[in-house]
Order: sequence, then structure tokens, then C-alpha cells
Amino acid sequence: MQLLTTVETVHEKRSWLFTVRDQYGEKEEVILVPCDDSVESDSTGSRPAADGGVEAWINRCTHESQRFDTGRGAPMRDGQLICPRHGSMFDSCTGYCDNGEAADTTLPSVEIRVSGNDGSVYLVDDDLTFVGEGGIEENEDDEDGDGDDSPASTSHIGF
Ligand code: FES
Repeated sequence: MQLLTTVETVHEKRSWLFTVRDQYGEKEEVILVPCDDSVESDSTGSRPAADGGVEAWINRCTHESQRFDTGRGAPMRDGQLICPRHGSMFDSCTGYCDNGEAADTTLPSVEIRVSGNDGSVYLVDDDLTFVGEGGIEENEDDEDGDGDDSPASTSHIGF
């Protein structure tokens, strides 16, 4: 389990962006958003009884590859996540959209768990590895070898 943040922080900031690496090694952005239906608990076992009022979704609209949170927080209103491109609204608790261009689609969810008295939010999705807080650009590292940080292999100048 990877500690991400706390429920309080997500509610304060309205969305919390982070980057993960999927099972194929590809980076993906995820957003944590407040969900006020936290009283809803199902006993299927797939989800903890109380999710603490936070849900996690892939940070990309189902219509076109539009990010919800582009680094300045996701646009939200009345418990709905709003696509900045064409304005479709997704329920922050279910990920479902019933309007606009993205109508009848559901955002891919990411498994998280809230535990502890302080409302710590953990990433528990087996397919995903936590890379860091913030978007993909903020989490560029040398591993890819194509980042600006990596020393150019053509540079042989030494003193
Ligand atoms: S890209 Fe989100 S509704 Fe079109």
C-alpha cells in the first residue's frame, strides 16, 4: 500500500493529482476527488465499507484525451467533475457521465483505500505503482532516457 495523502487534503484542494506507472510501464495520471456519498457502503467486499469520501479516477476524459486536472485542480461543481474541453460532467462518486459528448461512459477507476483516524488515502491497485504527486511532466525521470535531464550520449567532451 502506498500512502498518497489525506481525505482532508483532497477535500481542501478539491482534487489531488498524482502519477502512476501501469503494468506495461506506461505513466498515467490519476486524480483523487471528494465524493460526498461516503455513507454509501456495499458489502461486496470489493470496496471498503467507508471510502472516506474520496474516489480516484484516471485523469482523462472518456470522449477525447482531455485531462481534467491540468495541474491547477480539476473543475468541479455540485459533486460533478467537469471536462474542460466540451463540458461533460461526471459524477465524482461513480465516474458516470450522462450528458454531453461523453454521455453514457464511465471513467476508469483506480483502487484506493482510506484508513486510520487521520483519513490517510492509500493506493491499493495491484496494477499500478505510485510514481509521485503531480502530473506526468512533473514526474519525468531519467528512466525513460528521453528526458531533458539525461546526459546526451553524443557528448564525449571531457577534461
Ligand atoms: S473531451 Fe471531454 S467531453 Fe469532449
